[in-house]
Amino acid sequence: MKVKVINGPNLNMLGIREPGIYGSSTYKDLEAFVASVCAKHGVEHEMFQSNSEGDIVTEIQQCLGRFDAIIINPAAYTHTSVAILDALKAVAIPTAEVHLSEVSEREQFRHFSYVSLYAEKVITGKGFDGYKEAIEYFVSK
Ligand code: DQA
Repeated sequence: MKVKVINGPNLNMLGIREPGIYGSSTYKDLEAFVASVCAKHGVEHEMFQSNSEGDIVTEIQQCLGRFDAIIINPAAYTHTSVAILDALKAVAIPTAEVHLSEVSEREQFRHFSYVSLYAEKVITGKGFDGYKEAIEYFVSK
């Protein structure tokens, strides 16, 4: 199985940004964590991060025919991006949505997710373990 892991804006700032919410581990730590979980399960993966909505849309389009599953943390674009939702629907690849924080317990504007209208699995508030749960969801599917 081949999985694409896509992360949206400001996730490259993990370890620096709002450590009370996102913790002290860095994006490099997240890359290493995802790689170790994938290796344990024999899953091939590629990881991508961008601060740009258009680049994320293009990356999703390029998954067509190349990946069996997408794991995406669209970050702030979760709550605003019809374009990311449409890209996921266009490629129709099984998708899990992950959020490090418990978005439902934060500001009202974080309660709605466009991506959740397509994602078959949504995991929130579990930190890095949310990515592990998403990988294991596709492994055991
Ligand atoms: C986030 C939650 C979003 O509301 C926020 O904009 C992020 C990160 C999370 O992982 O908890 O940047 O997606």
